[in-house]
Amino acid sequence: MCGIVGYIGDKQAPPVLIKGLKRLEYRGYDSSGIAIINDSRIEVFKKQGKVAEMENLVLDADPQSSLGIGHTRWATHGSPNDINSHPHYSNSGRIAIIHNGIIENYASIKEGLLKRGYTFESETDTEVLVNLIEDVLLHTEVSLAEAVRIALNQVVGAYAIAVIEEGNNDQIVVAKKGSPLVIGIGTGEYYIASDATPFIEYTNQAVYLEEEEVALISLKKGLEIRTIANKLIRPYIQELALEIESIEKAGYDHFMLKEVNEQPKSIFDTLRGRLIVDKNNISINALNQYEKKFLNADRIVIVACGTSWHAGLVAEYLIEGLARIPVEVEYASEFRYRNPIITERDIVIAVSQSGETADTLSAIQLAKAKGATIFGICNVVGSSIAREAHIGAYTHAGPEIGVASTKAFTAQVTLFTLIAMSLAEKKGSISKKLYRKLIRELNAIPKKVQQTLNLDAQSKHIASVYKDVSNCLFLGRGINFPVALEGALKLKEISYIHAEGYPAAEMKHGPIALIDADMPTVVVAIKTEHYEKVVSNIQEIKARNGKIIAIVNDGDSVVSKIADHVIEIPEVDERLSPLLTTIPLQLISYHIAVMRGCHVDQPRNLAKSVTVE
Ligand code: M6R
Repeated sequence: MCGIVGYIGDKQAPPVLIKGLKRLEYRGYDSSGIAIINDSRIEVFKKQGKVAEMENLVLDADPQSSLGIGHTRWATHGSPNDINSHPHYSNSGRIAIIHNGIIENYASIKEGLLKRGYTFESETDTEVLVNLIEDVLLHTEVSLAEAVRIALNQVVGAYAIAVIEEGNNDQIVVAKKGSPLVIGIGTGEYYIASDATPFIEYTNQAVYLEEEEVALISLKKGLEIRTIANKLIRPYIQELALEIESIEKAGYDHFMLKEVNEQPKSIFDTLRGRLIVDKNNISINALNQYEKKFLNADRIVIVACGTSWHAGLVAEYLIEGLARIPVEVEYASEFRYRNPIITERDIVIAVSQSGETADTLSAIQLAKAKGATIFGICNVVGSSIAREAHIGAYTHAGPEIGVASTKAFTAQVTLFTLIAMSLAEKKGSISKKLYRKLIRELNAIPKKVQQTLNLDAQSKHIASVYKDVSNCLFLGRGINFPVALEGALKLKEISYIHAEGYPAAEMKHGPIALIDADMPTVVVAIKTEHYEKVVSNIQEIKARNGKIIAIVNDGDSVVSKIADHVIEIPEVDERLSPLLTTIPLQLISYHIAVMRGCHVDQPRNLAKSVTVE
């Protein structure tokens, strides 16, 4: 993970870097640091903890510089202390580096450098890389950019790096492989960052570095890009549509709460242009283009991690149920290491909010090599997974900053609903009547999501009752089983309460042993074909003194009599229900985390974008 930034221009670099790092803190927040060139000398400020801690050091010293690089860390090699924080110096102090990624062969490179007399202060792979670059500089008469290029030819692993050199206040050298790096081009200034959020308020002109590219950024020479094999590349400048308002908190206490409340709009944006209500039609460009492939596919394999994997599970119910195409949903991290059987007749759908998750990216690279058609469902436009896929569709949920994924999940589920319906219509496996009914119901979803959000006070009350529990169970059946998994993940990741999601009927095969008066169970108990059975499960829990928080439909008269708490949500076709049942679970987790004093947007040990395996 980790976030990197850089600046060269006529502004003061330290405030630009620090503001940029705060925007990238979602990528990691174990420690942070900046390196600037002040009077031709490199100065480094770095500290364990959040960017604000390091900012105090910079404010005290008030260094002046118009060139610098910065880093916010999610620790991989070495614990999150001051020494392991980036930037790292080479032994001579001549160059400084920041790095997002992992140098896999760092141990063997380090061994060679140790033999040549290099010493190391930190436990990081990054300090090895900066000394490898220094070693090239010392033994050849090449520029810094050339030395970086030569050094990277010896490196196995992933990197987005930025390097500066003492005495040269007109250059930053950057390179990318496996970790994202984007260059913002302003007037008489350049920015670098892991994504465009640090510089979007200054410029919307950007160049996304491709795999194994090295760039020299210089005010005098401009932008010069080469591959690590030394081929000159013409920069492709894109105009970004991102707006600054969309990455700020807009008056909410936390990004997570803002993002939960944005769901009526984000779902609407996912539907926009694809759900054509007056023509009773669904149109997804990528599906139209690859219609034959989809209709002739042996099966669809969905690969993803975390919340995106839960969206994939919902998709399995939708696509198999409506389009009758076999679907398998795989943890990306497991898929790639079990030599999966994949053929040219398979479609592999990668689901990822960030589009940068290393496990998911590697999974599709493997599937692509085996001949499958790769379809990407990403939120971040231009992200690595979106670019690696043959084809795909963006969720258009807008930037998601809170580490806990919320609006990205409902956007993914919305997009999968459209995909399932469209495939079903193309295959003729759905009746016209049902197709039209679902189109009408989908169109009404943003409004019903808003009605569900309006029940926030109930979620807050429930949170106040259960905020101190140590364990919590989440149950759901059918398409709401993945919602139970998602509810448990939300609670555990932001409140640090142990939570498990189960299919309601599985409870009797083990988890029921956990039930007692201290163990609340959250049950999705809306009106579906499983309703009666879920009611029986609730009875079983009540018989063992368990507490029940039930998500039911408006006007439910059965569960409300036996549950300890109910939240009544609007009725909707069962296939669309995850879009509503998820909302109270997000809100309950949010309020519990706030009441427990947890850092909601940046939970401990986590990062938004997991770019390590
Ligand atoms: O960016 P991605 O969707 O690929 O991320 C996958 C997971 O890392 C992510 O969903 C994670 O589980 C979230 N913290 C869940 O809220």
